[in-house]
Amino acid sequence: MSQPSITAAEFGQLPDGQAVQLFTLTNGQGLEARISTYGGIVTHLLAPDKNGQPGDVVLGFDSVEGYLSEAYQEAGPYFGALIGRYGNRIREGRFSLDGQEYTLATNNGPNHLHGGLKGFDKVVWQAEVLVDPMPGLRLTYISANGEEGYPGTLTVSVVYMLTPDNGLRISYAATTDQATVLNLTNHSYFNLSAGASADVLGHELQLHAGRYTVVDDTLIPTGELRPVAGSPFDFSSPHAIGTRIGDVPGGYDHNWVLDGEDFRLVATAHEPTSGRTLEVYTDQPGVQFYSGNFLAGTLTGKHGTVYGKHAGFCLETQHFPDSPNQPEFTSTVLRPEELFSSVTEYRFGVKS
Ligand code: BGC
Repeated sequence: MSQPSITAAEFGQLPDGQAVQLFTLTNGQGLEARISTYGGIVTHLLAPDKNGQPGDVVLGFDSVEGYLSEAYQEAGPYFGALIGRYGNRIREGRFSLDGQEYTLATNNGPNHLHGGLKGFDKVVWQAEVLVDPMPGLRLTYISANGEEGYPGTLTVSVVYMLTPDNGLRISYAATTDQATVLNLTNHSYFNLSAGASADVLGHELQLHAGRYTVVDDTLIPTGELRPVAGSPFDFSSPHAIGTRIGDVPGGYDHNWVLDGEDFRLVATAHEPTSGRTLEVYTDQPGVQFYSGNFLAGTLTGKHGTVYGKHAGFCLETQHFPDSPNQPEFTSTVLRPEELFSSVTEYRFGVKS
């Protein structure tokens, strides 16, 4: 195996002339990640299969134009991107904090989704290369007070680092100068077959979660944390994603209440043909398992692949949706004297 490395290349330009860079990280053990300064997007992620053959296990595009196209904006899948300020939904784009009402864009039916019209997925991040102990990329973005309606100047830094055991580790940190709300995640779509299978229905998934947040028909939690036992949401032992998806109207797009706390294994996926496995570790209380229900074959990505329904799945580690309006959920408030920090790792392996 080669030495761990990190290199930079041009990825393209935004319509306003801003240059976008693409960094390539390798860990010397067969894992390679490419990350764009636009949106902090993981555009490529190469992991070995059971024969040691590398394959690209995430959905995305080869150039920045793919992420800027009208078709992409229309579909809004957030491939591989950093999501903020608030990942997932806030009911009717409204919340109050310390007696003050805030109004956000409603960009998902009646609700606010993934930070609004121009979230962290659509801004250019400042990049800094890290080499010790492993190749890493620190991305920093300062979100102005009032941006997308959120209070406080928020300074966010995200470090992507490859670990020696084929993990892509994402460490988030943030500070604010005024009380605000925050829910950061990454929106990678995985397909562990690396293009061999057009959908992920054959992937076996296990989620270490005994409950999920029940939602209304606009995907806002009702407040009920319902046990998964005996339902198609029960992934406490491995199940193929496709086995019971027909029993969930629209497909999986829900937040699971993760067992335990601190940094722990919360999910495992296995694709039987390639043998690839994905383990997800996080310190977050929830994960949105989204089965790519809204992909509709309107986008053609890397390797000429048409992304149809269920072409990839997301495991978005997060606080529960609509937490700013649900006092019984763990708080997503960040205050000036606090440092927000969180770690999620996507670790790749093989199993026959
Ligand atoms: C949401 C989906 C949405 C997708 C892409 C997921 O986090 O829960 O409803 O379609 O992101 O925007």
